[in-house]
Amino acid sequence: MANTTQTLRQLTAADVLASLGSLRAKQPVKYAAFYSSQLGGIVTDPSLMVIPFDDHMVHRGHGIFDTAGLVDGKIYDLEAHLDRFHRSAEHSRLAMPMPRAALREVIIATVAASGQRHGAIRYWLSSGPGSLELSPAAGAEPGFFVMVFPGLSYPERWYTDGLKVMTTTYPIKPSLYAVTKSTNYLPNVLMQMEAKASGVDNGVFIDANGHVGESSNMNVAFVTSDGVLRHPRFDHILQGCTSLRALDLARRLQHDGLLRGVEVCDIPVAEARAAREMLLLGSSVKVAPIVAWDGQPIGDGTPGPVSKALLALLEEDMRTGDRLIPVMY
Ligand SMILES: Cc1ncc(COP(=O)(O)O)c(C=O)c1O
Repeated sequence: MANTTQTLRQLTAADVLASLGSLRAKQPVKYAAFYSSQLGGIVTDPSLMVIPFDDHMVHRGHGIFDTAGLVDGKIYDLEAHLDRFHRSAEHSRLAMPMPRAALREVIIATVAASGQRHGAIRYWLSSGPGSLELSPAAGAEPGFFVMVFPGLSYPERWYTDGLKVMTTTYPIKPSLYAVTKSTNYLPNVLMQMEAKASGVDNGVFIDANGHVGESSNMNVAFVTSDGVLRHPRFDHILQGCTSLRALDLARRLQHDGLLRGVEVCDIPVAEARAAREMLLLGSSVKVAPIVAWDGQPIGDGTPGPVSKALLALLEEDMRTGDRLIPVMY
């Protein structure tokens, strides 16, 4: 409990450091390393991984982020994630604090400092501190932050038995905001909370035209009854780096006869519900089968072969493909 007004006191810098330390003792986290352009370097003590309360990203949500995977000491597909980071920055009118090559070096150095070989790297760009106004403070310097952490994990049953999803009651973000990976994730958070409260694993956004959108922090795709892998167009949803890569890798399944084609197109809900398979795609989940949507089975209600084959292709690409950046620890 917080102190009562009678006992509130003014804190010294040492008091603040002690409080930050005891907060983390009560709530341990596995953040291995954090870079902050505002602090001017890397810290490994989670109690020091902080950002000023008046940073525009904190009090107005004027910030962007992205997350790349760390696999066996190598960073996977970082260039695709940096492409999206730059696009999100442009849409958000955020200036980059350093050139792309320097961002990449900072990310790699933070991973090296973490000593971690598996997990995730999340990085943010903020428009900086300096006021509580709606527009960024005059002269505010953009902040760049990098966190190395274990990554999000999901139950094994998602892969063995498949997941259940529901159509969310929350409206999809307007296109400009959906294609921008900003720190405004309220609809995504509410959708996932709604799904969990309803006893299913996640939600799906549908757009105003009745086309399938995406899930909370993942994309969705379908295999039609005649064997075509269909993915929603990326003009009204986030362009998933996993989806982009998986759509490319999926062409190999055409040679194996598992797929007849790969298409990125508008997908009306009725068509989607008649699919043979429904897939969830994202950097954290990779590829997982969805077996039920709004209480109705997808296909025969069991995980299908395309989701399994695509997961294997993606995992192979993450281990041995040509999109890996080695970290010099
Ligand atoms: C809203 C949303 N859609 C889709 C994705 C999937 O993107 P990626 O494959 O790059 O993880 C994410 C994750 O970043 C997301 O937050």
